[in-house]
Amino acid sequence: MEAQTAGFGFSDAELAAYPTVYRSDLFSTATVLVSGGGSGLGKTIAWLFGRLGARVVICGRRPDRLEAARDAMRAAGLNVEALPCNIRKPEEVEALLDSVTESGGLDVLVNNAGGQFPQAAIDFSAKGWNAVIDTNLNGTWWMMQGAARRWRDAERPGAIVNVVTVVEQGMPGVGHTCAARAGVIGISKTVAVEWAPLGIRVNCVAPGAIQSEGQAVYSEEARQSYKRSNPMLRFGDAFDVAEACVYLAGPSGKYVTGETLTVDGGGRLWGEFWAIPKPDYFRP
Ligand code: ADE
Repeated sequence: MEAQTAGFGFSDAELAAYPTVYRSDLFSTATVLVSGGGSGLGKTIAWLFGRLGARVVICGRRPDRLEAARDAMRAAGLNVEALPCNIRKPEEVEALLDSVTESGGLDVLVNNAGGQFPQAAIDFSAKGWNAVIDTNLNGTWWMMQGAARRWRDAERPGAIVNVVTVVEQGMPGVGHTCAARAGVIGISKTVAVEWAPLGIRVNCVAPGAIQSEGQAVYSEEARQSYKRSNPMLRFGDAFDVAEACVYLAGPSGKYVTGETLTVDGGGRLWGEFWAIPKPDYFRP
């Protein structure tokens, strides 16, 4: 199927029909919470888990987007709820996790919510830096810790998948998110060890250049350059990321923890990734 007919993301019809390698009842006894599930990568992840039989809960800051995503998934016969939550606020995260656990329990947490804006690091304001760290690092952490406490208290296993980014070479133009995501990878490795005896696995998926709605904030020049960000000379799509999340969350990942699965077409080995137009001194 030709991807991305709807601008930078999949249409609902594509989300419903895109082929997957996974069995349609793989998550039929599971509840999967996807943050940022109302749009972009999170919406695709939510659709895929839903198509594999999960009860899906999507959360995010914008009720309008969440409800639209929920309604489209329900129209396709999927079991989904939408709960607004600002993950920066620990008390809202607590209320969300209470609601999910009290209404049937939680099995998989996919921390996908995040936000950033392209800017040269030297120009970051304190407010901009703090906002990105607060959502992408702190918000992810409140979700991880809250879910783990509930799994520990209920003596049930759980799996966390954190959607991060490829941090190894830095990320010129989005240094704040690179710092936050590197922090998420660090705490994920740490708690993968601390929480292994509790039956909680913690992994990350690191997408490279993926064609999705989130790309809309970048300039045309930056977007064009992404095609040369990896040796495959193309974007990946949101299903590449969603299937990686399913692999890590499902039985296929039962002996995998503390890992970061990179989905970047080889971009960490060859390629250039600038989220802002490349400064003149880097041009040939
Ligand atoms: N998506 C982007 N920012 C978010 C936030 N603060 N809470 C939940 N979802 C988000």
